[in-house]
Formats: sequence, C-alpha cells, structure tokens
Amino acid sequence: MASSLVGTSFNVPEYVLPCTSNGKRMPHLGFGTAAFPPVGSETTKLAILEALKLRYRHFDTAAKYGSEQPLGEALAEALSKGLVQSRDELFVTSKLWCGDAYEHRVVPALKRSLQNLKLEYLDLFLIHWPVSTKPGTYEFPTKDEDILPMNFNAVWAAMEECQRLGLTKSIGVSNFSCKNLAQILAFANIPPAVNQVEMSPLWHQKKLREFCHANGILFHAYSPLGAKGTFWGTDKVMENEVLSEIAKAKGKTLAQICLRWAYEQGIFTLVKSYNKERMKQNLEILDWSLSQEELENINAIPQSRCCDPFNTIYDVWDGEF
Ligand code: A2P
Repeated sequence: MASSLVGTSFNVPEYVLPCTSNGKRMPHLGFGTAAFPPVGSETTKLAILEALKLRYRHFDTAAKYGSEQPLGEALAEALSKGLVQSRDELFVTSKLWCGDAYEHRVVPALKRSLQNLKLEYLDLFLIHWPVSTKPGTYEFPTKDEDILPMNFNAVWAAMEECQRLGLTKSIGVSNFSCKNLAQILAFANIPPAVNQVEMSPLWHQKKLREFCHANGILFHAYSPLGAKGTFWGTDKVMENEVLSEIAKAKGKTLAQICLRWAYEQGIFTLVKSYNKERMKQNLEILDWSLSQEELENINAIPQSRCCDPFNTIYDVWDGEF
C-alpha cells in the first residue's frame, strides 16, 4: 500500500498527494463520470447526488466528458443542502483537452472548467493525453490530420502557472508513458503529482507503475473494469473466466474482485457507475481480501492493451507495453 496513506474521515483510505499547494488528501476510490453512450445532464447530476449520499467524495471529470456542468450542479446542491459540509471534504479532478494543450490556452481552459464546475479551485488538473490536436478542436475520435505533437515544456509551464495562480491545488498528467513522464520531469519546477492511466487485471501497467513509484508520482488507475460498453473500452475484463471463478468462489461480484485486486496492489482507482446498487457494491471492498493463490491467478492473466485513441498515427505508449 502507498506509504503516504493516512487515516480517513470517510471509511476509505486517503493519500496525501505529493507536490500539492495544500497537502490535500485524495480518497482511494474515486467516482468516474466518463459515460458512453452519453447520458443527459440530469441523469449525471442525479447519479452524482446518489454517489454523494453513499459518501463518495472524490470525483473525476474532464473538459471532454461533458460532465463538468452536472457535477458542478450536484456538488453545489449537496453543499447547499448540507449533504457535504464543506468544499474541503471534496476532491475534484478535471483534465485539459488536447485542443487546449497550447501554452496560451491552458489557463483559460481551466477557468472554463471551473466555471462549469461552479468551483473556485480544482484539487487536481491533468493533461488528458500526451498529444495536442488542432487548437480549439474537441472532436473525438480525433481526425488524424488534427493530431499534433505537444510542446511539453510550454504546456507544462502553463500547468505550473495554474497551480501558482491557485486555480488548482495540484497538477498532473494522464495517459503518459515512462518516456513522456521522463521528458516532463527533466524540466519541471513542479513535478506531476499524478499519472492517471488505464489499469485492470488485463493491463497491469507494471513498468509504468514502477516508474511512477520511483519518481514520487501517484499512479492512478482508470477503467479498472475495462470500461465495458464504451467505444474505447473492452468487454474482456468483465467476461474474464479467471476473475469470474474467483468471484463465484468468494461470493463477490467480478467488479469487486477487480477493485479489490487494485486496492491490494496499493493502487488508487476510479470507477464509473451511474447505477445505485453498483455504486454501493464498488465501495464494499475493504473488509475482505484475496488469497495469495487468487492474487497469483490474477497476476497470470494474459495482458492486452486497450484504450489508445490516437494509435492510427501516434503510439502514446511508446512501445512500452
Ligand atoms: P453502469 O454505469 O451502468 O454501472 P470503468 O470504470 O472500468 O470505466 O467501467 C465503467 C463501466 O462498468 C460502466 O459501463 C458501468 O456501467 C460498469 N460498472 C460499474 N460498476 C460496475 C459493477 N459493479 N458491476 C458491473 N458493471 C459495472
């Protein structure tokens, strides 16, 4: 388990992020809001309000997801009704989209996100992917001709400016390979606090996890269930026989096996569910454990790479899989 784990006020372990301006604690399990097929704002807002009632306090969004606004409305309502006592109880992450990954566009993009979220600051602001797309483009999947290399130095300097201005308490990256992280670390004044990356029992990301650990960067897992049903995800995780057998033997769901496995690797995780029963189930992973044999069986699952939306012209993983 990560060494900076600290006691918690919400039943789930928390972690003090390195390189923050306020030592804010990040709860172990975060609530994802990347929904596909897209759902309306009201559905998203209601799901987030349910999550808040279940005591989720860590929310992940992105300029690209279309969920900033309903998340902001749900948080404002929860604060005004006393469901959440203060902003300080919440941990909110958003991300810079590729079309805004240019020096002069970063601070305005974060200000737009804050306006959508009705917040004065984020807890964590991430570069969403290590590529830029034509300035101002938000199309996804992205047209090949719109994909451009990112000027890491310039964009990271602007991210640091966001933290200095107090618009975010910490900054980081998402979907960055070891090679890309090394480039950022070579010139960063504020090193990335987090690398948010896909990880599941079918994609352990061992090398990247080790690199992050060695460099004091929190490896943060998204899509631990494989993002089944989305165009970027895979059904292979939720249909895996090894996981299914373990789930049956333990009287748990396959999703819980995935989340408990990540937890036992010391990995902080995001999971998206807008279904109340599944939201609840995803929190119930702390009072039981996997046996050594079960862990070994999961660790032996053949690995396959999943989400790589720019792969037609650019290997974001730098062949590191
Ligand atoms: P839903 O919102 O209908 O629950 P990931 O977090 O890996 O990206 O996966 C998200 C997908 O997994 C969503 O489609 C979500 O659907 C589904 N999901 C989330 N939690 C569970 C669960 N406990 N059991 C089954 N499916 C789940």
